[in-house]
Amino acid sequence: MDKRLIDPHILSDETPSEVTLRPKSLDEYIGQEELKRNLRIFIEAARSRSDALDHVLFHGSPGLGKTSLAHIIARELDVNITSTSGPVIEKPGDLAAILTNLKPRDVLFIDEIHRLNHVVEEILYPAMEDFQLDLVIGQGPSARTMKINLPPFTLVGATTRAGLLTPPLRERFGVILRVDFYKPEELQKIVMRSARLLNIPTEPDGAYEIARRARGTPRVANRILRRVRDYAEVEADGVITMEVAKRALDMLEVDEEGLDKMDRHIISTIINKFNGGPIGIETLSAAVGEEKDTLEDVYEPFLILKGYLKRTPRGRVATKRAYEHLGISFEEGIQQKSLF
Ligand SMILES: Nc1ncnc2c1ncn2[C@@H]1O[C@H](COP(=O)(O)OP(=O)(O)OP(=O)(O)O)[C@@H](O)[C@H]1O
Ligand SMILES: [Mg+2]
Repeated sequence: MDKRLIDPHILSDETPSEVTLRPKSLDEYIGQEELKRNLRIFIEAARSRSDALDHVLFHGSPGLGKTSLAHIIARELDVNITSTSGPVIEKPGDLAAILTNLKPRDVLFIDEIHRLNHVVEEILYPAMEDFQLDLVIGQGPSARTMKINLPPFTLVGATTRAGLLTPPLRERFGVILRVDFYKPEELQKIVMRSARLLNIPTEPDGAYEIARRARGTPRVANRILRRVRDYAEVEADGVITMEVAKRALDMLEVDEEGLDKMDRHIISTIINKFNGGPIGIETLSAAVGEEKDTLEDVYEPFLILKGYLKRTPRGRVATKRAYEHLGISFEEGIQQKSLF
């Protein structure tokens, strides 16, 4: 399969069609019911008090809808949103420029917030806590600090893993919400919605087949939908039926359980080269030729969710289910292991 279906670097690209498909309100946003329930209450409360909403942190795997939620918050609060991302803000002055341009109650969205450098991060602490900027002007003996008052604003942060944030930054968020993988039924609704917006004739069964094999991730589902459409137009009459979806997904090498080539490569490497594990993430990364961060953010959470992989203090271990999926006898694997 073309790896781009899930390559996180391309995942975070804002393609025009992604922007069109992005849900615009909480009502349009499918799934994550508990998260939406919480968010509705906080938004309503802030609105009725005409206050800025508390700072919100979203964490969860790539493509689950964190950026969408940030935009929805701004819309529901009826305020402007300024978007940036951790690695883009290089100097304290960059952040100061953004903060001083905010209007009262505006949303500042910082994607990949765990990648802020620490000098910038320290400027953010008083800004979040007291809506104040402490800037050092000049250098050497003539340097002086300046305090600037900021309008009350809402910081919305997004990260793939909450554990990557420094504790002082994490503590300054009033609301921390986890965005989970989606159920197939929810993804089916997302696929049907996208198909409608993109004018792709799709039967509910066909949408379900895509949903079932989309690693619980809306962005992957949308991406597969477009690929299946191409297939349906060339190899069938253009309508995405269950049959067409099945054939297209087979061609894309996404298997019955939604595992792609890299997923299978990972578990087969652990089983065949490392006797099922435990194996450290660095070694695994070198063995499969994939970046450590990508393994940890994209592949691992899905393989763990599906029960193919276990995380132990000594490293990653392939489960019985992983052996069975690849048609390798688990008992034989274990016997071999005891010979070492
Ligand atoms: N709940 C949802 N309902 C409908 N569509 C969704 C939903 N969540 C996400 N999507 C779709 O998935 C796409 C990806 O979502 P989004 O960009 O918000 O993910 P993300 O979590 O910010 O990803 P990343 O971590 O890579 O930045 C959106 O363009 C949208 O079309
Ligand atoms: Mg995003």
